[in-house]
Amino acid sequence: MSKQKKIEKKKIIKKAKPEKIKSKSEARVESSANAGSKKAYSLLRGMHDILPKEEKYWKSLYHAAENLAEHFQFGRIETPLLEENSLFVRSIGRGTDVVDKEMYSFEDRDGNKVALRPENTASVVRAYIMHGMWNSIQPVKMWYWGPMFRHDRPQAGRFRQFHQVGFETVGDGDPVQDAELILVAHNFYKDLGLPVEVHINSIGMPEERQKYKNALVDYYRSKRSYLCDDCKQRMAKNPLRLLDCKQEKCQPIKEEAPQIIAWLEEESKNHFMKVLEYLDELAVPYVLKPGLVRGLDYYTRTVFEIYPVINESPDTEPGAQSALGGGGRYDLLVEEMGGKAAPAAGFSLGIERSASALRQYFDSQQIKFAGVQFDAFMAQLGDQARRRALKTINELRSSGLKVAYNFSKNSLKSQLEAANSLQVPYALILGQKEVQDGTIIIRDMESGVQEIVDQKKVESILKKKLDRFDLSSK
Ligand code: HAM
Repeated sequence: MSKQKKIEKKKIIKKAKPEKIKSKSEARVESSANAGSKKAYSLLRGMHDILPKEEKYWKSLYHAAENLAEHFQFGRIETPLLEENSLFVRSIGRGTDVVDKEMYSFEDRDGNKVALRPENTASVVRAYIMHGMWNSIQPVKMWYWGPMFRHDRPQAGRFRQFHQVGFETVGDGDPVQDAELILVAHNFYKDLGLPVEVHINSIGMPEERQKYKNALVDYYRSKRSYLCDDCKQRMAKNPLRLLDCKQEKCQPIKEEAPQIIAWLEEESKNHFMKVLEYLDELAVPYVLKPGLVRGLDYYTRTVFEIYPVINESPDTEPGAQSALGGGGRYDLLVEEMGGKAAPAAGFSLGIERSASALRQYFDSQQIKFAGVQFDAFMAQLGDQARRRALKTINELRSSGLKVAYNFSKNSLKSQLEAANSLQVPYALILGQKEVQDGTIIIRDMESGVQEIVDQKKVESILKKKLDRFDLSSK
């Protein structure tokens, strides 16, 4: 390169240089100033994020549902979040809070009136009819998990987008189906370690219910001047909701109100008695609640709700606690939605409320909620050991073992602490020496006893210790 060219290149480089390289602190100040000038988004009212710290509860809830579905042979169904608006209006019913006040309904770009699903029973029934499921062996048992939308008044445990897990049995009216569903709902919480109780009632068939409503209105009419304004309206619009009133002044009136059970005919009474007998046989604890009527129109006969058995704090109004879930029989819905008559029953459980009840219960008992149970924790010391550890974890995982680890911790002490907090039964320890010898240490986390084993045998030894694998073919 000639001298002249060199000088020109230098000039170009100099020209191209930025005026001044900003210091880190200057850049930080500028970026936060920019952040201030841009809109920082928050959530829409009633919406919420589910953060990684919640994951252990959500995962456990999902696994519990999936296990039960498999055991009791419910098949998974996924339906769209968006359906025709009238599907929900017809099934849930005008005059209910969900339809009158809480639906996310709108017109789509084709001019169709659509709605975000406020619940999933109507969609399951639509799918049962649409896919001709009455042609398969009855009952058809289905389960689902997903978001629902209700433009509710947000408060603790009440969101506008929330999640439900639900189980529906379509095509069989026998009381054993009601009992099986209640057993599944009860087992769901039992498996997770949360004590719950089942509140149960029968609201009979529509003709029985109509006679009861007349009697209820007659009774309330005589007390009209003592009622709250809402109850005065309920008398005309939806008399069964009189039994839901939480106003103090209405409580003594509610307590003396006629009970629906007295209006049930022989068949409905027998059906209910049989459900209760099954529950006794299955040792599912329940509480009879003559005032339990549920807020959706499609129910016939059995209705139930699940409540956590948690000591209410002194500031909670008695009975103000929300249900974790609810359901019941809906024998007329399939026919009302245009299908061939098929009795059915089901329930849904709120996931947000269940996760929060689990957290509250485990905190109150000062027990750490373990979430997903790992079989072992892999602790490693040094670079070589870390490389080997990753390989071993992968091999153990493909053989069906769940191994936790934390590679950002280096000391053995902190890794064993992490193992302790995950409540794993065993820790596997790999150091430099073990890598060279082809061995690994298995530490029993409860007794602290350690043994050195051949790395090739760690899978079979661990499985033997865990005692939940069939090793007969090994
Ligand atoms: P549901 O009683 O309206 O019944 O809702 C069931 C559960 O969903 C409630 O107990 C509650 O845990 C949860 N849930 C309801 N609304 C909200 C909300 N705004 N925020 C948070 N959680 C909520 C049904 O949906 C029926 N489909 C149940 C059923 C299935 N019946 C027969 N089959």
